[in-house]
Amino acid sequence: MAKSDLVVAITGASGSPYGVKLVQVLLRAGKSVHLVISPAATEVMERELGRKILLDPFEPRSLFPDSEEYFERLHYHHFRNFQAGIASGSFLTGGMVVCPCSMGTIAAISHGISQNLIHRAADVHLKERRKLIVVPRETPLGLIQLKNLTALAEAGAVIMPAMPAFYTLPQSIDDMVNFIVGRICDQLEVEHNLLRRWGTPESNDDET
Ligand SMILES: Cc1cc2nc3c(=O)[nH]c(=O)nc-3n(C[C@H](O)[C@H](O)[C@H](O)COP(=O)(O)O)c2cc1C
Repeated sequence: MAKSDLVVAITGASGSPYGVKLVQVLLRAGKSVHLVISPAATEVMERELGRKILLDPFEPRSLFPDSEEYFERLHYHHFRNFQAGIASGSFLTGGMVVCPCSMGTIAAISHGISQNLIHRAADVHLKERRKLIVVPRETPLGLIQLKNLTALAEAGAVIMPAMPAFYTLPQSIDDMVNFIVGRICDQLEVEHNLLRRWGTPESNDDET
């Protein structure tokens, strides 16, 4: 338990590759990652990643076939396990990311309804005034969703919609995933080389 411990929750919004890549990048950067996955996220992952992920028992290899050497720093918690350390403010962390974050989870967190460990850990991060980053994906956004997002922003959360940029001239889905994951890492102050930064020589595509 330390400030280098980060919490990542993957929920049932489209965009599961963002969450999986984020966990990999954080592990490779030397962070300890506390991972929680919602049941709806497994449905989305089956479709988007083509992989069936069991939550109990959870097999890290099923989600991260290439990250085995870092598994000692991956701490998985079942979404119903309110006994997990991350359910308490006394467990120190360096922040939490919900990526991707469904509108259902946005609603639960913004109303303080701690029905599962993801909602509870997010609640804890807000009350302890720690960094909470949510990565919502929905379009268009209805008024209730916008109000819920506003409430979260007012409570101190960072709202980072999964909106990859095009000015970086992405060549692949990986490029687009890396852009979002890189911006999340910027927020967490985790060093990375995932994106080309505007205003740097590498980002200048004008050859004239
Ligand atoms: C294939 C698929 C894609 C989905 N995409 C989204 C989405 O982009 N945004 C969203 O808010 N919900 C989406 N949903 C609906 C959520 O999964 C659903 O509201 C669920 O109850 C969210 O639960 P959770 O927040 O506990 O993960 C999707 C569902 C499926 C099956």
